Amino acid sequence: MTGTYSDEIWWKSAVVYQIYPRSFADSNGDGVGDIPGILAHLDHICRLGADTVWVSPVFKSPMADAGYDISDYCDIDPLFGTLDDVQRLIDEAHARGLRLLLDFVPNHTSDRHPWFIESRSSRASPKRDWYIWRDEPNDWRAALGAGSAWTWDEKTGQYYLHFFLPQQPDLNWRNPEVVEAMHGVLRFWLDRGVDGFRIDVAHCTGKDPTFADHPRCLAGEALVDFNDQPYSHEVLRGIRRLVDSYPGDRVLVGEVNIRSTASVLQYYGAGDELHMSFNFPPLDAPWDPIVFRTCIREVDTLMRPADAWPTWVLSNHDNVRHRTRYNGSLRRARAAAILLLSLRGTPFLFQGEELGLEDARIDPDRRVDPGGRDGCRAPLPWTEQPPHGWNGAPPWLPFPPNPGQHSAERQWADSGSIFHLYRHALELRRASPALRLGDWEEIDSPPEILAFRRRYGDDVRLVCVNFADRELQFTPPGKWRAALYSEGGPAAGTRFPGKLEREQAVILEPET
Ligand code: NOJ
Repeated sequence: MTGTYSDEIWWKSAVVYQIYPRSFADSNGDGVGDIPGILAHLDHICRLGADTVWVSPVFKSPMADAGYDISDYCDIDPLFGTLDDVQRLIDEAHARGLRLLLDFVPNHTSDRHPWFIESRSSRASPKRDWYIWRDEPNDWRAALGAGSAWTWDEKTGQYYLHFFLPQQPDLNWRNPEVVEAMHGVLRFWLDRGVDGFRIDVAHCTGKDPTFADHPRCLAGEALVDFNDQPYSHEVLRGIRRLVDSYPGDRVLVGEVNIRSTASVLQYYGAGDELHMSFNFPPLDAPWDPIVFRTCIREVDTLMRPADAWPTWVLSNHDNVRHRTRYNGSLRRARAAAILLLSLRGTPFLFQGEELGLEDARIDPDRRVDPGGRDGCRAPLPWTEQPPHGWNGAPPWLPFPPNPGQHSAERQWADSGSIFHLYRHALELRRASPALRLGDWEEIDSPPEILAFRRRYGDDVRLVCVNFADRELQFTPPGKWRAALYSEGGPAAGTRFPGKLEREQAVILEPET
């Protein structure tokens, strides 16, 4: 029955804005974004209408993997600021009605973490078993182009395991001391008032205890793309129990990097693991109605009966931005914004998509990331004129194309900009229980149009996306008026004329 599977718990209605701190805003002129920079621009997020912020790692790190290699989970890297800055960020966010999620990286530390330094100091070290050491490697492959997942340690004559770079040794979560230490990290931040965590590669803490070779690794794939072991679920249940012991509905959203909704679903457990998991097929999807229809249907078919709340994401710091994926088309990016913000589930926005940014083109001599992900990590242009709000040293990466035109300043001032499209769509979402929490039902439409109804009690909306590069006729049953077109179209509030321009999307409300 409509509405019985959803309630108003905050994270179901939330719209999450991902901040990649290095590239968000620089306050001290060193060319790298920082926490005071985030503080100075929190109002941008409020103006947009997102209500939750996820901040990618700001902890102490040698930066072999841009902060996903942590050498102290309970301190902040000087590049980004101080512990006090983070406390101010938590408090200032809360003062504005925003929730704040930090990034929790449980699978691996930095090789400079004191735990690993101790572990590799001798085979007899009390922390030897905090990491995974073996006499012989198997064929497991690491991600980020790192080759074998095993690195030889000369001094102690064994190999250690790393699913990512050799500078990111994997923790051994079967050791209760590791569990206790990592729970201590969570408590440290929960006590400071964070509203939850995004959990990095949440499906990776459990390793195959037999260390069997894997044919997919032999074929060149990295283990992180399919590691799916029962023990990761036990780890997550432990984390969930801890988080649930805190007041205030703190949330866990996990990165489960497996491209299968059925597998991702397992990480919700019996309501005792992740509250939400990323589901990445749309992150790879080209501008194609069949691909979108297939993954949206699959999510509804599998997740709704299981009472697992979906998430939607088109871009993040690890993948080519969706506008770039759609051949640079702003028109498609605008239509995709309507789709993203009207599906059933919590949307995650990646900083800059609200400005219509494309990936930056990075010359080989400017490349930073060993995994080749620099393009989407380019700095946000704030002001129209160079240096676009980055007023000291030039930013650590070049700007995306047309930074002046896509600057926040220009976008705020132009009521027809993609920024205001996002803002308006979020306003409609906030005002409509159907768009936030309602059920999702596809309606008959031409194959190149994706059309669906959202309904919560009496509240109903219809959403139509024309993927075709030509105008198409489409008359949905009933009488509808347009609440918001992605671009063009007749004035909002007028009757829907039964046609969609090329690559145009619309949110419709019933005519009263
Ligand atoms: C996933 C993160 O999103 C990515 O940026 C990072 O390189 C790996 N996990 C390793 O932490």
